[in-house]
Amino acid sequence: MKAAVAQTPDSSPEYTDFPDPSPHAGQRVVELVAAGVHQLVLARAAGKHYSSEGVYPLVPGVDGVGRAENGSLVYSVFSPAPHGTLAELITAPENAFELPQGADPLQVAAGVNPGIASWMPLVARQNETAELGTVVILGATGMAGLLAVQNALALGASRVVAVGRNEAQLARAVELGAATAVRLAGETKADAAAIADALGGTSPSTVLDFVWGPPAEAALAVFQGHGLASHGADISFVQIGSLAGETAAVPAQVLRSTNIRLRGSGFGAFSYEEFSRQVPRYIERIASGAVRVPYRSFRLAEIGEAWEAAKRGGDRVVVVPR
Ligand SMILES: NC(=O)c1ccc[n+]([C@@H]2O[C@H](COP(=O)([O-])OP(=O)(O)OC[C@H]3O[C@@H](n4cnc5c(N)ncnc54)[C@H](OP(=O)(O)O)[C@@H]3O)[C@@H](O)[C@H]2O)c1
Repeated sequence: MKAAVAQTPDSSPEYTDFPDPSPHAGQRVVELVAAGVHQLVLARAAGKHYSSEGVYPLVPGVDGVGRAENGSLVYSVFSPAPHGTLAELITAPENAFELPQGADPLQVAAGVNPGIASWMPLVARQNETAELGTVVILGATGMAGLLAVQNALALGASRVVAVGRNEAQLARAVELGAATAVRLAGETKADAAAIADALGGTSPSTVLDFVWGPPAEAALAVFQGHGLASHGADISFVQIGSLAGETAAVPAQVLRSTNIRLRGSGFGAFSYEEFSRQVPRYIERIASGAVRVPYRSFRLAEIGEAWEAAKRGGDRVVVVPR
């Protein structure tokens, strides 16, 4: 088959021949219809993600939509290396998620990964708290952040505060329903003051953090309390992505002075069973148009161009076989 193949962690994939995948027990081989080039795909191919398997040559790609022998369209996620989803043939579990009638397979391939990033922790938070209240989104300017704005509002958030550094994308977040946009200046004290100003003395129920590093440090500084008088907050700070830094300093006094819990969301933090319960719900949202996922499509043979476009960000890059 033809596939996008990365020879090393440092090289971009090239369009070439690669052995067909052989399905393991409980799997089948399906024809690729569309696969997204997500941040996770870039990070795993570069060996920089905690789930990277270190196997090269590698066909990158973590999920995608395929066409089964009976013609049905299925969404599949995580086939073991070296057979990722940027290939003419991909593996899918026998019980892969079937797409509803009329669903746009390219939007599904583009949207499940960035959309479920916030959907999982928001549903978990919804189960813990009577009201979602205010949701702060750090890194609201990326695809996952913009979908998070829509997801938070759909799940009942009363107010979304969008935080990021890209002005045009912040404007998009506001168009999608964010009440306030905070533009990061890259200086922790000033950024903390801007986030505090947007919150106006109220505390959010949830912070969805797609960037970590200095923006997370700025947000955490906002939640420093002043003793018992500060009691009453109930904040879940959810770490989801780390594009601004792999580490962030967490002041001890923030953890002691307010009711805040720091946790993460990703494969490993939630189980495959929990993920499997939410994926059909999310695919249904995309299929019904309740959430719209902007994408650009490239042919598999154009993988070099697609890879560079994905690195630059913007509308999600989706690869189709031809
Ligand atoms: N854990 C999960 O379940 C899960 C699922 C999906 C995605 N993720 C992660 O979530 C993150 C975002 O994914 P995505 O799909 O939204 O990516 P994306 O569409 O490529 O967007 C990335 C965004 O991050 C912003 N950014 C990068 N560096 C920044 C910095 N130093 N300060 C502020 N903003 C910065 C970019 O802003 P500029 O425009 O200003 O560059 C861009 O808006 C990634 O790390 C991804 O791996 C996690």
